[in-house]
Amino acid sequence: MELKILSLNEINLAIKDEIASLLRRKPNAILGLATGSSPIGVYDELVKAYKAGDISFNEVTSFNLDEYFGLSGDHPQSYRYFMNTHLFDHVNILKSKTHIPSIDKNSEDYYETYDNKIKDHGGIDFQILGIGSNGHIAFNEPGTSFDSLTHIVDLKESTIKDNSRFFNSISEVPTKAVSMGLKSIMNAKRIVIIITGKNKANALKRLMDKGISTDFPASILHRHPKVTIYADKEAASLL
Ligand code: GLP
Repeated sequence: MELKILSLNEINLAIKDEIASLLRRKPNAILGLATGSSPIGVYDELVKAYKAGDISFNEVTSFNLDEYFGLSGDHPQSYRYFMNTHLFDHVNILKSKTHIPSIDKNSEDYYETYDNKIKDHGGIDFQILGIGSNGHIAFNEPGTSFDSLTHIVDLKESTIKDNSRFFNSISEVPTKAVSMGLKSIMNAKRIVIIITGKNKANALKRLMDKGISTDFPASILHRHPKVTIYADKEAASLL
């Protein structure tokens, strides 16, 4: 696993550049997208590159990692809303090609068939990840099986607390989510994980210093041949 320690701005540009070169090489690439504050700067750079005429999303298909249980797509804290407002509404991606796992049996993105759908498209070429302070990736909380595919998750207290900053009160944070599994994520051909800020310093230290264990879901990434960790100085302060 490669570790690059850069400024936030450099991280955003480096990931944008890699996606831009992928899209030039393969205009119909499959992107695996994440929510949370970590990837926002990358999405801003992608929007800028699109507006400058450097890249096109016309043939791109995207699969998001996860979604809260019980929030409709127009709820400001739903991940569908997040993706629309931070990326999809500002570039020429076809909304019909943007996928977010769903618990609705009638949805074409129903979680039980989500992994097969990704496979049918040829698999994820480039996956962006953030990390939770307890080591979760997507919503795969500590204890999740390394063999997990897209599934329903009970969120841990620490995750509900971390994510309550986006809601009016902690009682509004959903307690369940639907999430791609650890195996689904490991199937991606290339993975980048963004770990920034002081509150992620312990998580980065744990990821770098200790072994692979389901107690710390992100540690499975050590087994993937093409992962880069993009960290800033604050997150790397305990290394
Ligand atoms: C949520 C998301 C994760 C994300 C994590 C960290 O729990 N499900 O995909 O990585 O938050 O978020 P942030 O980037 O805001 O720290």
